[in-house]
Amino acid sequence: MKYENTIEFAEKMDAADPLKGCRKKFYIPQVKGVDSIYFCGNSLGLQPVTVADALAQELEDWKNLGVEGHFKGKNPWKDYHEFLTHQMAHVVGAKPIEVVVMNNLTVNLHLMMVSFYRPNAHRHKILIEAGAFPSDQYAVKSQVEFYGLDPASTLIELKTGENIEELLEREGDSLALILLGG
Ligand SMILES: Cc1ncc(COP(=O)(O)O)c(C=O)c1O
Repeated sequence: MKYENTIEFAEKMDAADPLKGCRKKFYIPQVKGVDSIYFCGNSLGLQPVTVADALAQELEDWKNLGVEGHFKGKNPWKDYHEFLTHQMAHVVGAKPIEVVVMNNLTVNLHLMMVSFYRPNAHRHKILIEAGAFPSDQYAVKSQVEFYGLDPASTLIELKTGENIEELLEREGDSLALILLGG
């Protein structure tokens, strides 16, 4: 693609965007009666138009079926962890057998660190971005303390503008984990 800094180019790219229909699938907050320009990329995204009906469906099954909703609901809850497996495998570039959609982000961070953070006498430090989301910071600190280590000397924060290559050169041998948000 040859980028051009013109309104015509931007409109042409928008018209050819295979994802352009997705915009209609979300409620866009209004400012003075028009769609806002919305750049927030945190994990709470915009509300999908279908979400209220989807939640109402589950509440209805819970109301009418109680625990039997696990087996007899419209979307039996017992198999919930598998409903998004194929789509998510495509998104992350993995095989379906390698992917499961579960929990919230903080629980998953803990589970990942249980697997991947194995500090020893030489490698025990964790590199994270400075000022990371508070729950990310608490999760990392909890893991460090779980191993009886001191967060003050174990956590290294990558500051905005800091050269990560230099930091890795300096601290690399003592790093057990690098945790940087996408
Ligand atoms: C970067 C980041 N980390 C952690 C969280 C917390 O996520 P959860 O409540 O799923 O644990 C959020 C939520 O907005 C987030 O944006």
